[in-house]
Amino acid sequence: MDWFAWDFDHPAYFQIYADKAADAASEGPALAALLGLPPGSRVLDLPCGWGRLHPHLKARGLEIIGGDLSRLNLRRHAVEHPAPMARLDFRDLPFRTACADGVFCAYTSWGYFTQDADNLRQLREFARVLRPGGVLLLDLAGRNFLKEAMTGVAGQWLVFSEEGYEERATWSRDGRRIRTERHCQGETFRHDIWIPTNAETRAALAEAGFGAVAAYGGLDGRPWTAEAERWIYRAIRNGCPG
Ligand SMILES: C[S@@+](CC[C@H](N)C(=O)[O-])C[C@H]1O[C@@H](n2cnc3c(N)ncnc32)[C@H](O)[C@@H]1O
Repeated sequence: MDWFAWDFDHPAYFQIYADKAADAASEGPALAALLGLPPGSRVLDLPCGWGRLHPHLKARGLEIIGGDLSRLNLRRHAVEHPAPMARLDFRDLPFRTACADGVFCAYTSWGYFTQDADNLRQLREFARVLRPGGVLLLDLAGRNFLKEAMTGVAGQWLVFSEEGYEERATWSRDGRRIRTERHCQGETFRHDIWIPTNAETRAALAEAGFGAVAAYGGLDGRPWTAEAERWIYRAIRNGCPG
């Protein structure tokens, strides 16, 4: 089984990422503002996870449709934030071509696939479901920031006793991916995420059919810098607005 089909679909995920529920109060309004679409716009929240950012998108008057691979996340979303939703894989979205004004892809939800072609396919699917002129917001972790943060601790087990798990992270030998091993609730979880450079992200966006890419270095919309903790891209689907 692919790691992302297992890790995110286990109750331990909610335990390990419990603090992200509180983070939603600052991340949601800020990311929704950066998406920058008017009320009434149809936005696909891909992946929607358990819907922690959903109320903040709704608060801007957007029509939100969620999608995620994890049944567990979708069930929690349905209980806490009832909304139209679909179970899906990024590589083959069950939505009509050009049906959406926006795709909202928050919290490092790109780069999960081992094959570059699959990661590109995810962006191509985002482009396909957007109308020409539609907006993709792609919220990624800054690669240089992660490199710095992992200096001296890469490969070491770190214990998060209050949260009830331990983890160790290493860069893949080619330096492209971060592999994180975690122990929680008696299980082992392994994340394996491609952490692209700015140039790689921009090249993939262009190849997938996006242009006019703006990049931000934080939730407040500050300019992108190489050292920023977050690299947030706002890209426009090519073609004449329809
Ligand atoms: C880091 S979480 C982010 C969720 C949400 N955007 C947020 O900010 O809370 C990543 C999500 O991607 C989903 N996911 C992982 N692989 C996927 C795939 N191949 N297709 C669709 N969703 C996937 C997971 O189930 C998980 O809910």
